[in-house]
Amino acid sequence: MQIRIAHDAPEGARTGALVVPLFTNEAPSGAAAAADAAVKGALSDAVRSGETKGKPFETLLIHAKDQPFRRILAVGLGDRTKLESSALARYAGTAVRVLGRKGVSEIAIALPEEAAQSAERYVSAVAEGAISGTFETTLYQSEPEQRVAVESVTILPGDGERDASERGLRRGSILGEAVNLARRLAVTPGNDMTPTMLAQEATKAAKDAGLAIEVHDAEWARARGMGSFLSVAQGSAQPPKFIVMSHEKGKGERLALVGKGITFDTGGISIKPAANMEDMKYDMSGGAGVIAAMWAIAKLGLPIDVVGIVPATENMPGGRATKPGDVVRAMNGKSIEIINTDAEGRLILADALCYANELGAKRIVDAATLTGACVVALGHIVSALVSNDDAFAELFLDSARATGERYWRMPLYDEYATQMKSDIADLKNSAGRDAGVLTAAAFLRSFTGETPWIHLDIAGTAYLDTASSWAPRGPTGIPVRAMVALAEALSS
Ligand code: BES
Ligand code: MN
Ligand code: ZN
Repeated sequence: MQIRIAHDAPEGARTGALVVPLFTNEAPSGAAAAADAAVKGALSDAVRSGETKGKPFETLLIHAKDQPFRRILAVGLGDRTKLESSALARYAGTAVRVLGRKGVSEIAIALPEEAAQSAERYVSAVAEGAISGTFETTLYQSEPEQRVAVESVTILPGDGERDASERGLRRGSILGEAVNLARRLAVTPGNDMTPTMLAQEATKAAKDAGLAIEVHDAEWARARGMGSFLSVAQGSAQPPKFIVMSHEKGKGERLALVGKGITFDTGGISIKPAANMEDMKYDMSGGAGVIAAMWAIAKLGLPIDVVGIVPATENMPGGRATKPGDVVRAMNGKSIEIINTDAEGRLILADALCYANELGAKRIVDAATLTGACVVALGHIVSALVSNDDAFAELFLDSARATGERYWRMPLYDEYATQMKSDIADLKNSAGRDAGVLTAAAFLRSFTGETPWIHLDIAGTAYLDTASSWAPRGPTGIPVRAMVALAEALSS
């Protein structure tokens, strides 16, 4: 998709459709008023008649005769006083999908008046949303049913400053592509998206963005004492990969991004029920997010040191698979009694967190589709955040706020750790159902040392069962936007 900026007046846009914002309880203003005037009040008529109320991402299509633009698509943005720049991504995504499915190939997207003061932020959101709006999950269909046909998007920032708009376009385009990269990796089924393939995709992304990358094998992990990671891999015929990407453009204060890369989670010997097991192809969403965030951080050229770590393996039953009751040892020497082989995410993250510390990380963020308990607690609306450091958690939450990705902090009281004690080993990997997000986090904390650390449980948010006007059902690209926003905050 081509995407560019034009500083022309919206009513002069020569395009298949002019997209304008509408706010609730307001007559059309700004670009919407200009479009309305061109069609002799047809838009304001529709608003007055209540046909559209300007509710978030509600759409109304009007054909325009004898105008440079052939259609007007009004997209609701809700209450003007509550407008956030992240809504502009959904606004643009909705426009791309609604018009694209009608076969419109060229569109122009106008910004609301308030965008002029912070053109970089708003243009970035529109570019990100327009690009991520083109994402389709029909990768394997011979004749995909719904194709988003938009090929060219012109963003109309109105009075927005030119340089700021261009910077926003560049940032938003990179972010949108990163989000789509993470989604493509997550939606690709386990037979194709093996640990080897995930490592190849990471290598491709690294080459494209100028990142250094090392893909380590089981031998390497064994030599490092990563018995916890390897215990998950040993039931699988697919060789595990331990992926390390690095971007060294800062002053040595290294941030580590760690992502769970289970390319398929059967549960292992503690096998999962058949119903919905196919969903477990997206159990590498955290890892995909880290790979895509690293790509974006490098493309943006952020002045920061970041290392991305993705332990990748399948979790399979088999003659060599780990059995409940087995005791394994992680890289930091801690022994772990494996109660439930389906609690495998924490096992691979344990060694990855140790490795982040060995690389001298000053801050660590991990992201994982870690627990069903997270879905019970928070549903599909918000991801869980757990941290050992208040200031770091605040910084992350502050920078994530503008991205539209939502995180809710949960408390990591010391008592949760006592539930993870084993009779036979230092730790056990499962303590049953109660407070599953936090017992899992308490387990991970045993491997973070004193490094400020944030754990993101994205089990409920990485992949959605329902489509929205701006996205098909499937992978969301969470946590790419928040990870990049954090790296930006730490850069400045
Ligand atoms: N990958 C799953 C968690 C999951 C569930 C992700 C649903 C996305 C949607 C994870 O490996 C898992 O199986 N967790 C177990 C842990 C339990 C055995 C302590 C769970 O949540 O049931
Ligand atoms: Mn599992
Ligand atoms: Zn899992």
